[in-house]
This record gives sequence, structure tokens and C-alpha cells, in this order.
Amino acid sequence: MSKALAGVRVLDMTHVQAGPAASQMLAWMGADVIKLEPPTGDITRTQLRDIPDVDSLYFTMLNCNKRSITVNMKSEEGKATFIELLKKSDVLMENFGPGVLDRFGFSWEEVHKLNPKLIMASVKGFGSSGPYADFKAYENVAQAMGGAMATTGFNDGPPSVTGAQIGDTGTGMHFVIGILAALFHRTHSGEGQYVEVAMQDAVFNLCRVKMRDHQRLQHGPLIEYSVPTEGLTDVPRGGNDSGGGQLGNALKCKGGGINDYLYVVVQEAIWPALANLVGGEKLVHDARFAKIGDRRANQKAMWRILNEFASHHTKRELMAIFNEIDVPCGPVLGTEDLANDEHLRARQMYVEIDHPKRGKHFTVGMPVKLSASPAEITTAPLLGQHTDEVLKEVLGYTDEQIAAKRASGAFGKV
Ligand SMILES: CC(C)(COP(=O)(O)OP(=O)(O)OC[C@H]1O[C@@H](n2cnc3c(N)ncnc32)[C@H](O)[C@@H]1OP(=O)(O)O)[C@@H](O)C(=O)NCCC(=O)NCCS
Repeated sequence: MSKALAGVRVLDMTHVQAGPAASQMLAWMGADVIKLEPPTGDITRTQLRDIPDVDSLYFTMLNCNKRSITVNMKSEEGKATFIELLKKSDVLMENFGPGVLDRFGFSWEEVHKLNPKLIMASVKGFGSSGPYADFKAYENVAQAMGGAMATTGFNDGPPSVTGAQIGDTGTGMHFVIGILAALFHRTHSGEGQYVEVAMQDAVFNLCRVKMRDHQRLQHGPLIEYSVPTEGLTDVPRGGNDSGGGQLGNALKCKGGGINDYLYVVVQEAIWPALANLVGGEKLVHDARFAKIGDRRANQKAMWRILNEFASHHTKRELMAIFNEIDVPCGPVLGTEDLANDEHLRARQMYVEIDHPKRGKHFTVGMPVKLSASPAEITTAPLLGQHTDEVLKEVLGYTDEQIAAKRASGAFGKV
């Protein structure tokens, strides 16, 4: 089967997570992703190592299916090799701090002159324009400034970050969309273009529904929230409220562990069946819960009844019972549950790979399934593992040329 992005060469200067998550996705779609690292390597290779002298899991789980070369961009010989690679590539990706690529001498204007067909793609904390343009950013900075922190957690507690990496990988997925659109545009225009994604913008985009609620506040309280919203100007933290037109919450189940909860959505259509299951005919005809508006007004009482029922069942048992009557629900799966979840395994979402130094370990698989181009997940590279291979294959260098370049400091410290 042919890969969707076969023939696309990506020169990948990204580091940490937002960029690498995106270039890994492109590699899984079949692009030849050449990770161009400083001679010291992507900093995450050495961060939070669980095994001495072995690339961290952070690195190995975000850089699968790539080739690694080292190029010293602060040496003239290194820059010359970089220019040659630029001319042979379709996409250049980077997520350096503001101004780093300009300081190397490779602004978009310069890159576009060197290879007009090349797509250049950047992630920045806040983009290249506006009052925050000069600031660096990490995951939680983006969550704080994109609206996620203010709206996550419980209203009587502090703002919270979410465990999902919406600032980094979330931005990376926006990045992939931009690059794929630019590649498609190039097929008929013949021209490259500049793709930019700001982490704040990406998180804000994911908080769209909270901005819906923000505007609704001008016209009255947010009736679906379990906390009072009358007179507020900021959308409150909604705890585990569903945030949608239907009521939802996490029910505490038998077991008492920190993840022994089942999230349930009380859809209008399933209420009679759910009420019958939980409280029989009496509850079905209880006027406090007759229609969705009644259940909203009396939701505390409704959740008490549902929690009482849940306390007699484990989260898995309750999932089975509720699914029997078509109630949308899901147990809160901890990382141990997830690592052993047969559904995720069957969908190849937690896959074993073999790293040259680490040996066998697991990574999260490809969430986008292409019928004619399924992803085959292979290991992340060692630092500089493919420098010679890429120089020979892509640039046609001889062993002698490589040796001379190496002696000049093009690939290592000068
Ligand atoms: C993530 C971030 C905060 C890290 O900051 P940092 O560690 O100071 O790294 P920077 O990207 O600013 O700088 C990288 C440095 O490595 C150097 N470098 C990078 N690749 C190099 C290479 N191949 N050869 C030589 N030097 C290299 C750069 O020149 C720069 O040094 P300089 O400041 O002397 O110019 C910053 O990169 C950033 O804000 N990125 C944009 C937003 C983002 O993606 N955030 C991370 C999400 S996971």
C-alpha cells in the first residue's frame, strides 16, 4: 500500500513537543521526516530520563519514524549544508523561540527566495504579530493564556491545567492541518507559503464553547451549570458539568479508588429508561425530573439518586448496565487501565516499538486511520544516526566530502 505523503520530504527543526508531535504525524502519513538537530540534540532527549544514558520516553514517544541528522547552524559550513537540504525539501518546520531562525539568517523571505516551492511552517507561543510576539511559551503558559486554565477545575478551587497536552500536541495538530493545506495548495499553484500557528490561538480555538458561554452571560445565567452564574462576567469553572445542552457528571462508583467514576450524559431521550432502571415507575413519573428543564433545576437531587445507584456497581459494571439501555457513558480510565485497554490495543493506539538502546517499550499510536495508507510505527532515531545516510542519499555527498565537512565543524561543535 502506498503512503499518503510518500515523496514529501520534511526538514524538521522542531524540538520539545508542539513541533515534534506534528512532524511525527506527517512521518506516520508517509513523509520522509529528517529531524535536523543541534549537535547537542533536542533538549528533551536528556530530560526526565528513566534509564541512564538512554533517550527519554518523552523523546522516543514524539519522534517515531524520523531520521536524525546533526547540523551546527552556527557554523558557515553547517549553514551551507542546511541551504542545500532546503533546496531538496518540500517543508521546513520549526518551533524555536521568537527570532531564532532570523538570527541564523533564514527568515521566511530568505527561505522563499532560496526555494520558492518550499512550505515553511512555524509554531510560536503567540505568533509573529501582536503585543505578545516576542514571548516564549510552554504548554501551561498556552493553557493559561488560551482560556483552558480559567475554565478547568472546580469553581471553589484554583484554576487548573488539563492533563491532555492541548497547548503542545493540540497546537501540533493545528500545525499539521496548515501544512497539509499548504501542500495541497502547492499542487495547483506551484508555490510554497508560510504557515504559522500560535499556541495561544490553538488553545483558544479549543475553548470556543467557553466563549459561547461568555456571550450568553450577557443575556442571563447559564442554566446548565451546577454553580450559580447570575451576574457573572467570567465563565466559571464547571467542574464535571457536561457544558452542553444535556446534563452530565461523573458518578462515584463502587471501589472507592481515585478513578472509580463513570461519566454519564443524561440525554433527554434516555431519561425514562434510566429513571426506570434506577428508581422504577415512581422515578419515571417524578415531576422534579419530568423534562430536561426540571432536571436542570433539580440536578443536585438527580445526581444524588444516580450516585446512590452507582455506589453498588464498579465503573465497568455500570458502563455495561447503562450501555444496555443506550445511555452515553464512560468509566474514568487511569493510565494503568489505558495501558491494558483491549479496545485501544485492538485499534493499535498503544503499540510496542523497539528502540536501539532502550529496547522494547510502548508508545501512543496513530489516531488518524487511513484505509489505503495505514501507519507503521517504528522507533525514534538516535542523535545523528542518519547524518551520513541523508548527506549521501539526498545531497549525493561522497565519504570524502562528508569527512571534510565534519572536520570543518558542520555537524558538531566547532
Ligand atoms: C520552547 C522554548 C520556550 C524553548 O526555549 P529555548 O530553550 O530558549 O530555545 P530557543 O528555541 O529560544 O533557542 C534555541 C537555541 O538553540 C540554538 N539552536 C537550535 N538549533 C541549532 C542548531 N542546529 N545549531 C546550532 N544552534 C542551534 C538556537 O540558535 C538558539 O540559540 P540562541 O538563542 O543563541 O539563538 C522556545 O523554543 C519557544 O518559545 N518556542 C515556540 C513555542 C513552542 O513551541 N513552545 C514549546 C512547546 S512544546
